[in-house]
Amino acid sequence: MADDSELLQGQVAYYRARAPEYDDWFFRRGRYDRGRDANARWLREVGAVEQELADFAPLGEVVELAAGTGLWTRWLASLSTSVVAVDANEEVLALNRARVNGANVEWLRADIFDWTPPRRFDEVFFAFWLSHVPPGRFEAFWRLVEDLLHPHGRFFFVGSLSTETSTATDQQLQGRDAVSVARRLNDGREFQIVKVFHEPSRLQRQLLERGWQAQVKTSGEFFLYGHGQR
Ligand SMILES: C[S@@+](CC[C@H](N)C(=O)[O-])C[C@H]1O[C@@H](n2cnc3c(N)ncnc32)[C@H](O)[C@@H]1O
Repeated sequence: MADDSELLQGQVAYYRARAPEYDDWFFRRGRYDRGRDANARWLREVGAVEQELADFAPLGEVVELAAGTGLWTRWLASLSTSVVAVDANEEVLALNRARVNGANVEWLRADIFDWTPPRRFDEVFFAFWLSHVPPGRFEAFWRLVEDLLHPHGRFFFVGSLSTETSTATDQQLQGRDAVSVARRLNDGREFQIVKVFHEPSRLQRQLLERGWQAQVKTSGEFFLYGHGQR
């Protein structure tokens, strides 16, 4: 495996610095405002994926990887028995804690690429994370998901389709080498992060080949989501 540790550290640093402005992307504010029609389509698809998560019914003990500012933790907390929200950044977890404030949520700072799971769970959830896993760590990441699950445990994930209007108006969706890409903060600081867009049918095939019963679908223009079990 190529040494990608510097890139991954930069990725953690980017999300630490971006923490206070992260939600602008999700709520289509500032540099992410793509106009009324595109924003409305985005928010409609967000609602559709949130409904898919509710239908998936993560009712048990859930672990959420790369939990971020709590945009999905809040739904998991309301649906599930308990949630362990894992993220590498304390600054991000503080925002998550403030948003979710659930008695059934535990917040845990850990680096997903260097973490031994403490126990097993009924469901593993991750949103907008798989695209930040370098191709050389794809296998290890799915082994981690397996190690986190009870034998009949299930996963659910959400991700981005390769749609130009997903990102800010002042940055390119993809990098030159299609793995590392430049991302900018509102104040202009620039970071290199990992960005790998997964094509839904190919990703489903990759998971089936690795022994997962998996379904990967799209919400239309902006998102993919998938669920499955061993
Ligand atoms: C694109 S955000 C997704 C956040 C959240 N899942 C959401 O959908 O709103 C990626 C998150 O991964 C976290 N992160 C980055 N590298 C990480 C690592 N190595 N281990 C754990 N978390 C990491 C960042 O702090 C950030 O909160």
